[in-house]
Order: sequence, then C-alpha cells, then structure tokens
Amino acid sequence: MTGRALYKAIGSPKTIVAPMVDQSELAWRILSRRYGAELCYTPMFHARLFATEEKYRKNMWSEFDGNEDIDRPVIVQFCANDPEYLLQAAKLVENKCDAVDLNLGCPQGIARKGNYGAFLMDDWELVRKLITNLHENLSVPVTAKIRVYDDWEKSLAYARMVLDAGAQFLTIHGRTRDMKGQLTGLANWDILKYLKDNLPEDQVFFSNGNIIYPNDLQRCMNHVGCDAVMSAEGNLYNPGVFWTETNEKEKQFPRVDKLLREYFEILREYPTDANKHAMKAHFFKILHEFLNVHKELRPVIGRTSVHANMDDWDAIVKQVEAAVAKIYQQDDISDLDVIKVGEDESWGGQYREVPYWRCQPYFRRVDGEKQNTRVLKIAASSELANTNKRKTVDEKAEPVDAKKSKTEPLAATT
Ligand SMILES: Cc1cc2nc3c(=O)[nH]c(=O)nc-3n(C[C@H](O)[C@H](O)[C@H](O)COP(=O)(O)O)c2cc1C
Repeated sequence: MTGRALYKAIGSPKTIVAPMVDQSELAWRILSRRYGAELCYTPMFHARLFATEEKYRKNMWSEFDGNEDIDRPVIVQFCANDPEYLLQAAKLVENKCDAVDLNLGCPQGIARKGNYGAFLMDDWELVRKLITNLHENLSVPVTAKIRVYDDWEKSLAYARMVLDAGAQFLTIHGRTRDMKGQLTGLANWDILKYLKDNLPEDQVFFSNGNIIYPNDLQRCMNHVGCDAVMSAEGNLYNPGVFWTETNEKEKQFPRVDKLLREYFEILREYPTDANKHAMKAHFFKILHEFLNVHKELRPVIGRTSVHANMDDWDAIVKQVEAAVAKIYQQDDISDLDVIKVGEDESWGGQYREVPYWRCQPYFRRVDGEKQNTRVLKIAASSELANTNKRKTVDEKAEPVDAKKSKTEPLAATT
C-alpha cells in the first residue's frame, strides 16, 4: 500500500506513541490507546540481533505483540546498517504489524559507534539501500523517522531522498542530531512546516517534538499542517497527553493511583519479558511528581526487582492507592483538585499547574543528559544484558536530581 492508502487503512490516526527503547512496549501501547493514542510504534529493535539471536528476539517480541485484537495499528521500528539483516528482521514481523520503520534519528554515542540512527545522515546511499530493500521485498510498507539538519535545504533534499527510496510515512523530529543532552532545545516546528510545504502535498507527514499537554497536539497540527503528531516523553509521564476528545481531567491528567492500577492490570494480563522489564521505569515515570512528596515509596520501588513476584508490585500499587485515598478524604479536596492554566508563554502554549497526585509532564533539567541506554548498549556490544546489569540500569531509571526548568519543556534522549 502506498502512504495515503495505508494511512486511511489504519484509521487516519492523529496521535502517535513514539518508538521508545524499553518504554513503548506492548503494555504501554495498550494503555496509551485507552488514553487516545491512535497509532503506536514499538521500541527500536536492533535488526541484526533481531534477525540472528533468538534470545534477543524473545526478550523484545512476544506472541501478543502486533496481535490484531490488542495491538494494532502498530509500526515496528528497527535500527540497521545492513540491508539484508534489516530485511531478515522485518520479515519476521511483517505479518504482525502495519508497517516497518527505520530509525534514522538516534543521536547517541552508541549509535555513532554502531553506525546507525542519526549517524546514517552521513551516508545517504546506505539509507537509500536500507529503505529500498524493504520497499521492494516486504509485504508491508516501510516508513522512516528522521531528524533535521541545520540547513533547511539539505533537510528537504534528505527527506525527498528517503521518500524516493520508498518510505511511505515520514516522521520528522524537529531537532538536529546535535540537539541532545545539554544542547537539547525546543524542536523547530518552523522547519517542520517548511518541509511539509515543500514535500508532495499528499505525503503522509508526522511531526515530533514539544508536546507536553493535549492542546499542544492541535497547536502543532495547525502550525505544521501535518497529518498527525508523535509524542515520546509527554506520553511517558502522562499518557493522557493524547486525550483531546473531552476536557475531562480524569483522562487528560489521570490520577496516579488509577492510572498505575490500570497499567498494572494490563501487565498482569500480559507478563511478557519486555513488559516486565519496562515496568520499573514506568512506575517511576507515572509517579514522578507524586514521589517528590511521597518520598518513602521511592526506595521501595527502587529495590523491587522487575523479576520479583507480581504480588510485590501489587503491594506498591496498593500503597499508592492508600496514599491517594487519604488525599481525597480532605474536606477541601474539590478546591485542591484543580488544573490551573497559566499565561501564554513565548513558545506558544501555556503551562498548567497540576496536583501532584495526577500524571503530568516532567520538566527536565537542561544541564544534564539522561539516557536510556540498556538496549542501545546491547546493540553496540552484541551481548544480551544479564540480570545484574539490568538491575543496575533499572535502579538508575529515575532521574532523582531533576529540577524543574520553565524554559525547557522537554528534551529528547534518543
Ligand atoms: C525513553 C526514550 C526512548 C526513545 N527511544 C527511541 C527509539 O527507540 N527510536 C526512536 O526513533 N526514537 C526514540 N526516542 C526518541 C523519541 O521517539 C522522540 O523522537 C524524541 O523523544 C522527541 O520527542 P518528544 O519531544 O515527544 O520526547 C526515545 C525517546 C525516549 C524519551
């Protein structure tokens, strides 16, 4: 199917869960769809490992992933630098997804070392081969997610090349490869608009970057004129970021106790390796603001292994439920439980003041880099992480030293 036909066939989605290493796994996709996500990307999988290592594949992909009843529409993302491995990997999922995406945006050192992601921006011929090989040999369409260059014309030429090679959807993250860590700034919606305006009118075009609240989605669509908007961090800290059908605060800024319970029950129903592995990081992110007040829970989550009995995790959810229940016993709770909208900001939107017991965006400090590197490390070293290594990374999953900065809404990590 060509781009527009595919887009219509999957229901013309407007809201998209971004590919996120270790974080856009099945359970999270199921949850996000309940809060308005209309299309989801899997985490990036390393094509060569996926094609050649059964253990890696089993860790990343289960019989439930891509299932027609619970996990569609879904696009499976790979990073690759070898057209044959990429095709082999994609063939293994072609009957379980709506399209296969090539990651051309990962800017981390690990991607530099492995020569994939945004570092393929230096090798257009290889990018062309990777995409064309899928386009010609896969039964589902190929799509691509790219970053921009500082040079707008070069960005346009690059996007055109990616499309000529056969990509049917184009997602553009409005940051350059260097915009990461301390240098991460706001994504540039102006260049996204320029690219949208200069690519074929019918091209399916997704924007990525700067989404922190539900109303940012429409702002972005108006500004760029894109078909849909993708969010990564906004969605991780608050899946309600995709809810635009109504202004219900229960949907747009869900209570952490309710959302955590809902997520946990999905996990219990589908305890796949990837779902379980991602659990601790999701707990920390859902509860991010809440844990700044209920600090006693932080070490409890920190020391509970993702391999622990699910009852141990259930006990944590119950602790959160009990703490929030107490909050709602306050006489003046109806005055306290409100979302306050701030002044218009220079970046075009407004901040909200959200009670700490509700999901809300995380404002990253700008002078420190946080990375989610487990899978990227595996990808570079070709080794599967053992349990101990995983534990170490798990425990670091939450940025405890994060400080609010009202000048940098969100920063990309991958
Ligand atoms: C935890 C995390 C993991 C990510 N993993 C991937 C990935 O696997 N593939 C990819 O293309 N981008 C990845 N990214 C980048 C996002 O897809 C997105 O392009 C970036 O975060 C900017 O969007 P945002 O401003 O909505 O966060 C990741 C981002 C985060 C926060």
